[in-house]
Amino acid sequence: MQTICVLGLGYIGLPTAAMFATHGKNVIGVDVSEHVVATLRRGDVHIEEPGLAAFVRDAIGTGRLEIRTTPSFADAFVLAVPTPITADHKPDLSYVWSAAEALVPYLRHGNLIVLESTSPPGTTTRLIPILERSGLHVGTDLRLVHSPERVLPGRILIELVQNDRVIGGYTPECAQVGAELYRAFVTGEILLTDATTAEMVKLMENTFRDVNIALANELSRVAQVVGIDVNEAIGLANHHPRVTILRPGPGVGGHCIAVDPWFIVDAAPQETTLIRAARQVNDGQPAFVVDIVRRVLGSGPGRELAVLGLAYKADVDDMRESPALEVVERLAAAGYGLRLHDAHAVALPDGTPLERDLGTVLDGADALIILTDHAAYRELDPCDARLQRLRGRILIDTRNCVRHERWRAAGFAVHRLGVGDSAPVSVPQ
Ligand SMILES: NC(=O)c1ccc[n+]([C@@H]2O[C@H](COP(=O)([O-])OP(=O)(O)OC[C@H]3O[C@@H](n4cnc5c(N)ncnc54)[C@H](O)[C@@H]3O)[C@@H](O)[C@H]2O)c1
Repeated sequence: MQTICVLGLGYIGLPTAAMFATHGKNVIGVDVSEHVVATLRRGDVHIEEPGLAAFVRDAIGTGRLEIRTTPSFADAFVLAVPTPITADHKPDLSYVWSAAEALVPYLRHGNLIVLESTSPPGTTTRLIPILERSGLHVGTDLRLVHSPERVLPGRILIELVQNDRVIGGYTPECAQVGAELYRAFVTGEILLTDATTAEMVKLMENTFRDVNIALANELSRVAQVVGIDVNEAIGLANHHPRVTILRPGPGVGGHCIAVDPWFIVDAAPQETTLIRAARQVNDGQPAFVVDIVRRVLGSGPGRELAVLGLAYKADVDDMRESPALEVVERLAAAGYGLRLHDAHAVALPDGTPLERDLGTVLDGADALIILTDHAAYRELDPCDARLQRLRGRILIDTRNCVRHERWRAAGFAVHRLGVGDSAPVSVPQ
């Protein structure tokens, strides 16, 4: 398989396309977004990921990565398009279906089709009627596999190569052909199974994390009631050789963990009490954060709050499903004056530009609240001159990410999520 057509050039498809090109394949990278295609053709990259811009530029420079808005004939097709959920938590597979329809005119005998998008169980086999509009039969003329992507944003170029990769074939022979494709660059183990199992593996991994985080978040609420520091307690509990509780925070965001468990709930609604409850606990965390703010600052009107971090996790600019956005919405609705800052993102999802200068954001605010543990905030020196521009010396840390003793020594009242010390403090009038 020498020619590969990758549909969807986002966080997953773009590095994957460049990786194949860097490993000697001829790659046609396709995206329906004119903006994405124009940006890439200009030599820029539309997403933030360490090393990605240079990696993509180099791949294009080799002449083996071509960027287009429509597919073309190839030996293998990789679908890396979005699989979001609707407002009522149902899978939205419209991007998968339309990408599959787009490649039908280009299918030829012997082609491999890989669905990389995270998908509800059964999605890969539901592609068959679309692909067979080509007049070719899946399993004999065409090979079909699901290979879920498990990379961690921030480490995509490393994990794409080193992670073990699950390949679920429509038939065992399809899986073998899929494995051959990924051997081009994967150094991790390649594990073969059937397509529906592969779909479930990816969903189970993220659901495991979601349920574990829900436990940590629920314990953070308990800790505030019983008057302990949940972070200290989790740290001690994790000394048990068979216990690993994850960290609490303002909620769960991103394209994966906040979304994928709903695919399982949708597939088996009667059997998923725990998974649904975990989602609800995590979705309830922004309201819990707003309660902490209210307890610390009093009611909203007249209070100015500097909000640090809007991305869903540290050191990325991705705001998809970010709980920070819901915290901001709720704080605004409660009447707080808000100044928003993100160390990585330059604009809100609606395109509104964000103030880049932290000092300007802090100027005159009654308190600052950290919602994303970007390194720029973790490492912020409490004696930094920009912090002198605050009106009140109050820090609310929802990520337990700063060295709070140092902030206290610098005269800050520090309030941490999951720590039973959020007693009311006086706020400058
Ligand atoms: N981002 C992650 O960290 C991550 C990790 C593992 C798995 N995934 C999964 O990978 C899939 C892709 O996610 P992503 O983060 O790369 O999404 P993304 O939104 O960053 O990129 C998807 C791209 O697909 C394009 N697109 C939509 N329809 C298309 C079509 N018909 N033809 C060609 N291009 C089309 C969009 O314009 C967009 O640029 C999703 O299923 C996601 O759940 C993502």
